[in-house]
Amino acid sequence: MKAFVYRGPGQKSVEERPKPGILAPTDAIVRILKTTICGTDLHILKGDVETCKPGRILGHEGVGVVDSVGSAVTAFQPGDHVLISCISSCGKCEYCRRGMYSHCMTGGWILGNEIDGTQAQFVRTPHADTSLYPVPNGADEEALVMLSDILPTGFECGVLNGKVAPGSSVAIVGSGPVGLAALLTAQFYSPAQIIMIDVDDNRLEVARRFGATRTINSSDGKAVETVRSLTESRGVDTAIEAVGVPATFQLCEELVAPGGIIANIGVHGQKVDLHLERLWSQNIAITTRLVDAVTTPMLLKTLQSNRIDPSRLITHRFSFDQIMDAYETFGHAAQTRALKVIISL
Ligand SMILES: NC(=O)c1ccc[n+]([C@@H]2O[C@H](COP(=O)([O-])OP(=O)(O)OC[C@H]3O[C@@H](n4cnc5c(N)ncnc54)[C@H](O)[C@@H]3O)[C@@H](O)[C@H]2O)c1
Ligand SMILES: [Zn+2]
Ligand SMILES: [Zn+2]
Repeated sequence: MKAFVYRGPGQKSVEERPKPGILAPTDAIVRILKTTICGTDLHILKGDVETCKPGRILGHEGVGVVDSVGSAVTAFQPGDHVLISCISSCGKCEYCRRGMYSHCMTGGWILGNEIDGTQAQFVRTPHADTSLYPVPNGADEEALVMLSDILPTGFECGVLNGKVAPGSSVAIVGSGPVGLAALLTAQFYSPAQIIMIDVDDNRLEVARRFGATRTINSSDGKAVETVRSLTESRGVDTAIEAVGVPATFQLCEELVAPGGIIANIGVHGQKVDLHLERLWSQNIAITTRLVDAVTTPMLLKTLQSNRIDPSRLITHRFSFDQIMDAYETFGHAAQTRALKVIISL
């Protein structure tokens, strides 16, 4: 089969690889129909993710058809169309029983990281019964690819952890696919204000179309002032960090109102200053989270009932033969205006 392979920092290739087989009775083999590229795949290609070794097939998002199942799989059979979660979960270990699938003792984020992933014609999915979801009849399979990772990430790490509430004020720093997923799902709760902050005007324009009440280009250094002027000098009840660099976390520290929450989503590779000398008295909370993808069934229902349309995040489409172009396009988003790219097999 054809596969997209990480070959060490700065090196990638499309290779012919053997079709995967069942290794454990709880495995399924899925033939991929649609996959995509995540910002995290770009982190891997830079060499930022230590657990992902050269030779690994990348990809942790996708929709496909079950090709074969192990003897212990009861919820799926060959021919079923399935959504693949970026998080594999056994459903039985202590963390899974607490709904914290991201820390499953025999799963978590392993696809396209510690085991071969979805940017290939076939993928082996461990713990298939609890890590795959049936595709509802008639569902838009491209839109569903957004549910493998970015929708649950924006919703769980940003909106739920940030306790977005009716009438509340929200600032989302970072208007990439994940920040936009937080923007879409924050609207379930009818906050009074959702202020999107970025340095890329194209992405802010998308944010306005997606329901932001205000957008701020923070490159002039005046974002804090502007947010204060919009919130009677208080700041926001929820500040969501969706970039992953020190400057944007520190911006959230300045944006949060007394009693508010900073909900971090970004993957941070560097230490960040925490200004407790100012924040200790402000009754704030800070949350962090690796996506658990525990809200996937709920998000599937909101998609089915047209409460959200994540297909709006898709900007480009490629065939698998063009996957190198897909990486180029996705990797130069400021020029190409790419959000999510769909790769069809
Ligand atoms: N916690 C999790 O489980 C989880 C899961 C998936 C992704 N992530 C992380 O979420 C983050 C966002 O992902 P994405 O795919 O949307 O990334 P992205 O790179 O596409 O988007 C980041 C956005 O931040 C903007 N930006 C960069 N520097 C900025 C600055 N100084 N001020 C304001 N805006 C700035 C960029 O213009 C861009 O629009 C990444 O760090 C990603 O690794 C976390
Ligand atoms: Zn991802
Ligand atoms: Zn588990």
